[in-house]
Amino acid sequence: MKETRYTFGDTITANERLKRIAAFFNPLAASFIREHVHTTITSVADLGCGPGYTTDMLAHATNARYVTGLDISENFLDAARQNFTAYTFIYHDVRDTNLPVKTDLVYFRFLLSHLKNIRQLVEDWTASLNPSGYIVIDELEDIYTDNKFFKDYLSVSDGLIKSQGADLYIGKKLNEELDGLNIFKNVSSLLPVKDSQAAEWFYPNTISVWKDEPWVKDRLCPSEINCISQYLLKTSINKTEKSSITWRMKKMIIRARDTKN
Ligand SMILES: C[S@@+](CC[C@H](N)C(=O)[O-])C[C@H]1O[C@@H](n2cnc3c(N)ncnc32)[C@H](O)[C@@H]1O
Repeated sequence: MKETRYTFGDTITANERLKRIAAFFNPLAASFIREHVHTTITSVADLGCGPGYTTDMLAHATNARYVTGLDISENFLDAARQNFTAYTFIYHDVRDTNLPVKTDLVYFRFLLSHLKNIRQLVEDWTASLNPSGYIVIDELEDIYTDNKFFKDYLSVSDGLIKSQGADLYIGKKLNEELDGLNIFKNVSSLLPVKDSQAAEWFYPNTISVWKDEPWVKDRLCPSEINCISQYLLKTSINKTEKSSITWRMKKMIIRARDTKN
């Protein structure tokens, strides 16, 4: 049976949220790929592609001719097919490491936070690459803030993902988890974000996923959810330049074992 496991849902609200997040993170991801991937890339796969915003970034950053996005959300796949007709989007659970396409480069962002047995998965995806291929990893390592409402929001998101056996801040564990693999680049970068922008990314979850999720409802009463939600809404509308929140992203490139160049 097909299942959707993405913690933050696959509604139109979730799609819009990912679009806004992509507007910030995509240029950074594209620069990283252009800076470090110098061989000709003909085919790429975006694992956990969602509505396709990362897939489109990947296509432009690599100029690949064959571009495929894989996901387990039919809603996101439908949106991706409508948004980006030049690429192929396939239903595939990436825990089945027998991927439907063999490519020169596999990319994923904000995917490992939702999965378990990370090392085995990354090893298997690496083994499935074309010769001299690349795995490009773009995952969250940490989020630093002193803002009480942001902290409250993050503590709920972290707890919710942990309750499903995964880890929001999976990037922190990757040095250890992936030790011994053929790591070609390993970078952590600090990215200050405006409060209004962070609030815009956080707010949608408080009015959608949080309202239906038993784990959240068992821990926060409606007025507590409402208090966080109202703060985020107000902050997202109030477009000041203030920044009291910083993302730390882990970017890694792993090469296939047979790599010569
Ligand atoms: C946070 S979203 C990221 C989407 C996209 N990479 C981006 O950054 O805009 C995580 C995505 O991973 C997908 N996903 C989660 N578990 C998956 C699995 N086992 N196989 C394939 N996709 C999965 C979800 O459906 C969701 O679209």
